[in-house]
Amino acid sequence: MTTDSVRWDEIHKNIPPDLARHSQYAEGCEPKFPRSSTVCDLAGGLGYDALYFINNGHNVILMDISDYALKHAKKLASENNVVSRLVTKKVDFGEGLIPLRDGSVDVIFSRIGFNYFPYEETRNLLADAYRVLKTDGKAYIAFKSPEDLEDYNFLRKNAVELQENVFIEGEQIRSRFTKRQLEQMLEEIGISDYSVSAYKEERETLRDEFMKASKKVLYLNEVSFKKI
Ligand SMILES: C[S@@+](CC[C@H](N)C(=O)[O-])C[C@H]1O[C@@H](n2cnc3c(N)ncnc32)[C@H](O)[C@@H]1O
Repeated sequence: MTTDSVRWDEIHKNIPPDLARHSQYAEGCEPKFPRSSTVCDLAGGLGYDALYFINNGHNVILMDISDYALKHAKKLASENNVVSRLVTKKVDFGEGLIPLRDGSVDVIFSRIGFNYFPYEETRNLLADAYRVLKTDGKAYIAFKSPEDLEDYNFLRKNAVELQENVFIEGEQIRSRFTKRQLEQMLEEIGISDYSVSAYKEERETLRDEFMKASKKVLYLNEVSFKKI
């Protein structure tokens, strides 16, 4: 855990100040949440999306591998006088699943948090997200998409492809699953009420997977499902 955790600490420490804000994806999802939800933000990073959800009346459980990010999220909540509405938890999703009881949250949210695992582990995480949702609860999970050709071709050229669309670049696994692959995972798990659709974030500057401010368009595939 230490290596991944420390690597992510360093990435988070170097985030450009103009990216210190909630994401467009979070803004698009939040109106679909039930009011006053318990939201679990998986690999939620520095906590800007979590703060946005709290400011819209929700309580948030934020899980991440980075101590720095978790501390930052708490500080942000504290500065905004909402610290009692944020729970943070250090978790390595590469080593285990979601440490929550069955049927305990209304919403699962994750923005580019599930892109670091091979096919089977990713599918198991999706199954676990389903497990922890309450009946009628919904998941909104955004993955980086192979439709970003610049990014995809970079990985094809510079990283080793371990499985179809799963690369290892240095020590970091990066997946770029197609819509079809994500649908296949959901079918394998037995989730029937789902959608997988392309989603584009377009802004002057964006938080991309590498936490750089240079991106103007972020190509995502959104997996959304409901607990029956
Ligand atoms: C691209 S960032 C996205 C952060 C946030 N969701 C956002 O949209 O800005 C990926 C996040 O995944 C976390 N992460 C990476 N590997 C992880 C792992 N194995 N377990 C838990 N979190 C992990 C990182 O610390 C980072 O916060």
